[in-house]
Amino acid sequence: MRVKTSPTDAATLMEVEHAGLRFRNPFMVGSGPTSKTVAQLVDAERCGWGATSIKLVIDPPPYINKEPRYRWFEKEQFHIFTSEKRLNLDEGLRLTEGGRKHTKEIIILANITYSGSDAEGWVEMGRKFEAAGAHALELNMCCPNMSFNLDIAAEDGTKRPCSGASLGQHPEAVAHITREVMKGVRIPVFVKLTGEGGSAPKVAKPTITTGCAGIGNGGTRLGVPPIDLYDLKKNLYGLQDEVSMGCYSGPWMRPLALRDVYEIRKTIGAEGTIIGFGGVHNWKSAAEMFLVGADFIGICTETMVRGFGFLPELIKGLKRYMKDVGFSHHREMRDILVREIVTADRVTIRDGLAVIDEEKCIGCRKCELPAHCYAITMEDRGAEELAAAKTAGRKLSRQVAKLEGADCCACNTCIDVCPVPECITLAKGDYHREKYNSPLIASELDRKHGYAEADMPPAVASFVTDGGAKAARLGMPGTFSADLLQDAPKVAYVTQGGNDHAQACAPAPVISVGGAS
Ligand SMILES: Cc1cc2nc3c(=O)[nH]c(=O)nc-3n(C[C@H](O)[C@H](O)[C@H](O)COP(=O)(O)O)c2cc1C
Ligand code: SF4
Ligand code: SF4
Repeated sequence: MRVKTSPTDAATLMEVEHAGLRFRNPFMVGSGPTSKTVAQLVDAERCGWGATSIKLVIDPPPYINKEPRYRWFEKEQFHIFTSEKRLNLDEGLRLTEGGRKHTKEIIILANITYSGSDAEGWVEMGRKFEAAGAHALELNMCCPNMSFNLDIAAEDGTKRPCSGASLGQHPEAVAHITREVMKGVRIPVFVKLTGEGGSAPKVAKPTITTGCAGIGNGGTRLGVPPIDLYDLKKNLYGLQDEVSMGCYSGPWMRPLALRDVYEIRKTIGAEGTIIGFGGVHNWKSAAEMFLVGADFIGICTETMVRGFGFLPELIKGLKRYMKDVGFSHHREMRDILVREIVTADRVTIRDGLAVIDEEKCIGCRKCELPAHCYAITMEDRGAEELAAAKTAGRKLSRQVAKLEGADCCACNTCIDVCPVPECITLAKGDYHREKYNSPLIASELDRKHGYAEADMPPAVASFVTDGGAKAARLGMPGTFSADLLQDAPKVAYVTQGGNDHAQACAPAPVISVGGAS
């Protein structure tokens, strides 16, 4: 038997008991091209994977089924495909039987879709896979490349089957099918939802209340492929004639996948089990998945790129991290970020500004370019400074970035565009109040740059917190004092942190109280 990767190592043990099953660890090969043969199931087990979900089986036979065409964009970290081969019922059952016969420990899930319109078809399929030896079912409510692809790109949507990501966006239908299948089989039933349409959390709620074994947050996402602008008919793949929508997966999608898992966890509460899919490729991304609420982790793309053998290295890194931060079991990590993440209105913004280490600056001008910032300008260092540096044996650029602190709102962008590490940092403090004593108000910035006529936009109220004196200085048409703001929540909004500067946030009339004397 061909073994593509390293053998199972005791180091991959992170036991989990769930739904009456024992998993070596919470890592599952996600249903796809790396789980469609017995040899792959055997390889996955040898590399220590806790579970594998076989390639989607469709009954009646797949209504879209072509030889696969895949592309992996290493630099951009995404995988894309349109054309893909699914299994028919017979192939799926034989794979399940063969997988059970040739493996001992790996948990085998049957990833299934019934593409007819009645729940009974799902139940029948479930029963057949139970008889074939599947440890569990995974109802595929996620594939965006069958009816959903047609929903998006075809004209007539009336007569086609409704499956995968099309069906998976209907809470009642998913819950109904899940409930019926659960009545028909004894093995655990997982449901893999879709991230399309942002529907996963709202579908997850009624689905988990069926008592199913767990919810997967989603499969691939459908998108327009990279286009050759000089040959619009050219597609990515080679040996394919037309341009087609592609199913995206891999690390690029992780922020969205994490958000889906987070949102599902918030919606279903602490009890339900979640399999987190999307962009996990190393121990760090795995830890993130647990922290936002996943109990298990499904990985597909990385196995297509690197084989199954990276799992021991991933688990080793994860165990080292857990030891470093004091977790004795990965379950202890679960949900921690769910509790930490606050809503946008509750973030506390501290006053401060960017600080440039002028010694480190190489005068490249990159920090001067961001169009939302007028705080940085380039200046000549001057002959004296250059000469002193030369005498001291230091080389300095002729130009240096200078910061006007009053115009800096500490947004971070210059730090990220500067090529010199630690050259620009953020410093905390009451800079605007004490050092510069100047409010960061858009109209004042315009005035500073010589656009005095660009006073206030007519529909926006502005205000200052110290009464009329400053307003008069700024030439504002009218002001009201801070205590009045409480009475006028719909009129204006003060930025958090008690800064001297304040900004209007809603179209509102200018209110004149006491006049700007
Ligand atoms: C080529 C390919 C085929 C896939 N086929 C299936 C499938 O048959 N059934 C399924 O539930 N998910 C399928 N998926 C989705 C993966 O199992 C996984 O949920 C998704 O790719 C996100 O995880 P990843 O970023 O680790 O790949 C497929 C993914 C890829 C890339
Ligand atoms: S932190 Fe933002 S506002 Fe401040 S100087 Fe840098 S880019 Fe400009
Ligand atoms: S980006 Fe950094 S190195 Fe370049 S000019 Fe600005 S501060 Fe200097």
